[in-house]
Amino acid sequence: MKFLIGLVLGILIVPIGIFLYIRSGSAPAAATDPAMPFEKFLAKGALRARISKEAPQRDVASFTTGDLAAGAEVYQKNCAFCHGLPQQPPSAASKGMFPRAPQLFTADDTVTDDPPGVTYWKIRNGIRLTGMPSFKDALTEQQMWQVSALMARADKLPPDVLLALKPAPLPAILAAPQTKKAHIGIMLASVSAFCSLFRHALAALGQPMPDTKRQAVDAMAQLTGANPSAFHAVLDLREAKRKEREIDIEASLHAYLEFVEVVTSEVDRRFAST
Ligand code: HEC
Repeated sequence: MKFLIGLVLGILIVPIGIFLYIRSGSAPAAATDPAMPFEKFLAKGALRARISKEAPQRDVASFTTGDLAAGAEVYQKNCAFCHGLPQQPPSAASKGMFPRAPQLFTADDTVTDDPPGVTYWKIRNGIRLTGMPSFKDALTEQQMWQVSALMARADKLPPDVLLALKPAPLPAILAAPQTKKAHIGIMLASVSAFCSLFRHALAALGQPMPDTKRQAVDAMAQLTGANPSAFHAVLDLREAKRKEREIDIEASLHAYLEFVEVVTSEVDRRFAST
């Protein structure tokens, strides 16, 4: 009898312990928490075993520069956001993830030693309980192999391919800001977003949330003492209430940016003091 009680207790103690540990709130749940006991072992061990069972073997030595360039394009569009680009600082997203997204073009993190089939498996299937998505439905078989071949040669890519791995160029409108047209474009393209930020900032500061863009601008002007006329001019242009030639574009851009700057520092200041 004693033995039986001992046995039952022995069997129950581990699940009860795990249950209490999880319910206690000390088990890691945030991306910024350190790993749980055995987490690495369980996650990595399971992954390795599965991959060695399933990863296809394929020699990608015959892949051409054209294939690698196609892989680079796929990478730029689908992977760089998390895994970064050659000669660039780590992507912002990578730093906030747990596990962190390896920067696949840095000496510490490249997967050039992994067989391409292993990389292909990870791209195709993703990695459970991490940020690594499965690309099975987003990319073709050929694209997944091309990007795997790219990863395998990440440390010795030809210059043509590296060129395709530069940070995305600024939208044309920002790259050529010297023209009047471009200045108008910048203001028209950003005015909605700014007004929406103003509305939310006002609400977050405990002010009534304005209904319209113009009300948001005016409320911000009142809160900060900044001059809202440039924002009204841009909204007038947007709503075709005024024509371009009726507005001094250079002066407006100046006043527009100044408004944003005054509002930003005032909102900063208020949040800091709450
Ligand atoms: C949303 C972020 C995200 C995107 C997008 C993403 N990954 Fe990942 N990837 C991760 C994270 C996080 C890991 C780390 C998983 C781990 O630690 O097990 C990872 C792991 C990997 C690994 C394994 C690295 C190693 O050291 O074993 C490879 C290879 C990889 N990703 C390739 C890609 C490719 C190629 C793409 C684009 C087709 C891509 N990833 C898109 C987040 C991402």
